Amino acid sequence: MRLVLLGLPGAGKGTQGDMISEKYGIPHISTGNIFRDAVASGVGLGREVNSYISKGELIPDDLTLRVVQERLNQPDCQRGWILDGFPRTVLQARELDRSLAKSGLNVEMACDVRVAQREAIERISNRRICSNCGAVYHLEQHRAEEKGTCDACGGALYRRTDDSEETVRKRLDVYMRQTHPVLHYYARDGRLYSIDGARPIDVVFADVDHYLQHLAEELAVGEAQ
Ligand code: AP5
Ligand code: MG
Ligand code: ZN
Repeated sequence: MRLVLLGLPGAGKGTQGDMISEKYGIPHISTGNIFRDAVASGVGLGREVNSYISKGELIPDDLTLRVVQERLNQPDCQRGWILDGFPRTVLQARELDRSLAKSGLNVEMACDVRVAQREAIERISNRRICSNCGAVYHLEQHRAEEKGTCDACGGALYRRTDDSEETVRKRLDVYMRQTHPVLHYYARDGRLYSIDGARPIDVVFADVDHYLQHLAEELAVGEAQ
């Protein structure tokens, strides 16, 4: 199963990606997380990408494509994957298709998690992340039991540096200009599935999962033939 998750910053791509990964046993690959890990390591790639992330701008396509290709070549990707936050430009979407086609593969489904901009801003301002295991919380919708610490591992919770109000506005603007056209790219050949993301996390997941079960059945039939 090979899918991509699209949607505004804060729409819930990461949240849904983790749930899909757990249920279907395929890796959840977030380019944002890969880049943030590189920044945290403080060397090479990290220094190069930090200037873009901190301004809310996109990392150049060639660098992003290289990073994703490297990740998709890892053995855990053989049975499929969930890409979260990639592709973010039409060029990235085309190159992904082109590269997969060389191995007779494709993106089977592009899931657009839809929320209004003001909901996205609200979610981002309430997001807290575990500094140890990366678990994602929301101060109201998905609260940690103990304020400021992770339920799973006790790690301290923090806010992303690009979650400031000014940078979030920039990220939303970049999404509308550079990423929104990617929806049309996948809609053209019927691969786009639109999900109402403005509902509780489990309800959104039930919808996503409904499509995924269909997809899994179709793939099983295809393999059996
Ligand atoms: P990235 O990390 O991908 O950020 P983003 O797209 O801005 O999205 P977010 O991670 O902020 O939101 P999300 O949709 O994952 O929401 P979440 O599940 O956390 O990218 C960051 C930067 O990296 C970019 O700006 C760019 O610089 C660079 N980059 C990354 N990929 C790139 C690429 N391909 N090309 C070039 N540059 C790239 O949820 C948000 C909050 O809401 C959480 O608190 C969560 O608990 C809560 N929540 C989730 N779902 C619900 C719900 N249904 N109801 C209530 N609350 C909910
Ligand atoms: Mg995310
Ligand atoms: Zn944790």
